[in-house]
This record gives sequence, structure tokens and C-alpha cells, in this order.
Amino acid sequence: MKKPILLSTPHIGDRELEFVKEAFDTNWIAPVGPHIDAFEEEFCQVTGANYAAALASGTAALHLALQLVGIERGDEVFCSTLTFAASANPIVYLGAKPVFIDSDRTSWNMNPELLQEALEKRARIGKLPKAVIVVHLYGQSADIDPILKACNQYDIPLIEDAAEALGATYKGRSPGTFGRIGIYSFNGNKIITTSGGGMLVSPEEQLVAKARFLATQARDPAPHYQHSEIGYNYRLSNVSAGIGRGQLRVLKERVASRQRNFRSYASTLGILPGIEFMPEANYGCATRWLTCLTIDPKAFGADREQVRLALAAQQIESRPVWKPLHLQPVFAECECFGGAVAENLFTQGLCLPSGSNLTDQDLERVIDEIIAVHYVSRKTEPLLIF
Ligand SMILES: Cc1ncc(COP(=O)(O)O)c(C=O)c1O
Repeated sequence: MKKPILLSTPHIGDRELEFVKEAFDTNWIAPVGPHIDAFEEEFCQVTGANYAAALASGTAALHLALQLVGIERGDEVFCSTLTFAASANPIVYLGAKPVFIDSDRTSWNMNPELLQEALEKRARIGKLPKAVIVVHLYGQSADIDPILKACNQYDIPLIEDAAEALGATYKGRSPGTFGRIGIYSFNGNKIITTSGGGMLVSPEEQLVAKARFLATQARDPAPHYQHSEIGYNYRLSNVSAGIGRGQLRVLKERVASRQRNFRSYASTLGILPGIEFMPEANYGCATRWLTCLTIDPKAFGADREQVRLALAAQQIESRPVWKPLHLQPVFAECECFGGAVAENLFTQGLCLPSGSNLTDQDLERVIDEIIAVHYVSRKTEPLLIF
């Protein structure tokens, strides 16, 4: 049987085990310890963030972020629709309501003009959202300046979901560091991992201090256990933070490898009719965390699902682009501004294997299979390719 090629797997460097061993040797096997402090500090150095709190997941970070900006039951929060459910689930944890905003075609991220229009419409009826969550998708920053301007105009806090965009840039800076709060994920499939984990960053020291407080069961300063607020057990473990410190040291290499994957795919598959890669906006540099493309079935000869199944038959994992959240049964009642762009990207979009540990042979196998689907489909009318 052929070796499976997966979408995006962990890629451990040389130092992680050393940091983990240090945690064991010093008995800091707890959600507190020197690796956590150092990881936060080093994360700030790498991203340019002012303050950071290491947490158990990106989802936990978003949950706290929403609470920190004051989201309460019944509030509305605007959120990108083309994203993973974890971007919007924490809105519902707080009893608030997501309202979705469509993507633009230039970056696949939240359309700033649509956001502006949506805010104007809502201002006219006196029903502005209490926060906006912009997602930086697949390793590419959204167009932050106009999004931030629109939010500032109405005094609405911007939360950046940069779970997928560590290592990317927007006008030379890290997405995640522009809004009131930014969050990142270190899930096993992300560009760097702590096995599971997340980071909350902010330019405001007291917000990050409050995040740490809430993440450690909201324990008041007292010799006994005293609580005046409801808290969470959301801190990252010191062992995981050790993995994170090792991973931060190879982040640049990981970005370079994923960009190299993209270049291999683009230079070979980009010449096939009907294939278009996720465009890279000129305001920054994308990591190509995942290489994503769209397939126009008429021009290519097979649709996205046929390509996905053909790859799966060869033990190659690929995945449809996110199903927009406004199409998810669980968010069926939620309003959405626009939606057609994200729907089209979902219908035609596919994420290819993109791990930083893929070999040239792995990439060749993926490329050859997609090329084969195209040529076989051309010979057999109608589109019967299996
Ligand atoms: C866009 C986006 N937001 C949030 C998350 C949640 O992060 P985590 O899995 O660390 O909770 C993820 C990934 O898992 C994601 O891709």
C-alpha cells in the first residue's frame, strides 16, 4: 500500500525535546512554570505583540477575547463566514449571536467594503455589533487597514483570529497584532504546534493580565480559594510551552517550506485549465499554511470532489475549503451579509497536502495524480474519471 500523504502534520525540530526534558527534570509539570513565561515573551519577540498569554487552545483564546471586550448574552458579533466553526463557536458560548460577512476574491478573507456597508446599515437602525472577528485564512492576512478603520469609525473592538496565520505579514507586521486582541492556535495541524494550545495577544497589558486571571479559574488574591468571578481552566501546560519554544525557533523554516510547497504546486498545476490558486494580496506575505486552489469543472474536466476522491484513492488527503458558516446547520438562523463568494470558494475550493515535512516525492505524487485526473477526464466524456 502507498504511504499516506496527509494534509498538514506536526513537524518537530531539534530543540523541543530538550525543553520538554527540562520541564520534566525541574518538575514543572503543570499549567504554570518558566517555559510558559518564556514562550509568551519569545512569542512577543517573534510577532511584535506587546503582551501575550499562553492558553490551552485557540478556541479558548477567542472565548476569553470575546469576554474581555464585554460580549454578553443577546449581543451580536460580526465574523468572517469562510472559516472554521471555532471562529464563531465562542460567540455562542457567551449567548451572543454571530452575524457573518462574506469574503472578497482578492484574498478570500473578509471583504472590507462589505463590512463597511454592513456597519453603515446597522448604524442606521441603531443595532451595531459589539465586536468584529476577522479571520486571517490559510496563512494570509485579511486587509486589516480598512477593516480596522470601519471598526474604529463605530468604536467597535476588532478581534483578529490569526489561528492560521502565524508567520504571515500585513504591511510588514504580524496579523493578530493590529486589533484590540489577537489569537493564534498551536493545534497539531498548524504551522507550529504545541500538540494543542493557543495564544492571546493584545497591546493592552491589563487585558492580557485579565485573560491570565480568567484562564486560571479567576482566583482572587487571597491565601484561601476565593472567587468573585466565573473562571476557566484555560492555561497552557508548561510541558506544551516547552514544545512551543522549540517550534518558535524553526518557524521561519516552516514558513519557507510551506511556501516552497505552494511554488511546486503553482508551477506545475497552475498551467492546467480551470485551476486557480488562492490569490496573494499585495499588502503582505502569505505563509501558504495550506495551499488552496479552485477547480472550474468545465475547464478542468473534473470537479473538486472528483479530484478529492481521486487523491483519496491514492492515499492522499486533501480537503474542501471551509464550508461557510452561514451554510452550517448550527448557524442556519444567523444573518449573513453577502455569501456568494464564500459559497463558490467552498464548491470549487480544495486544500492540498501542505505540511512542511512533505518530500519532493510526496509533492510529485500529488501533482501527478491531479494532472492524471485532468487528462483522463479529457479522454472520457462525460466526466467519468474512475
Ligand atoms: C481559523 C481558526 N480559528 C480558530 C481555530 C481554533 O484553534 P484551536 O484548534 O487551537 O482551538 C482554528 C483551528 O483549529 C482555526 O483554523
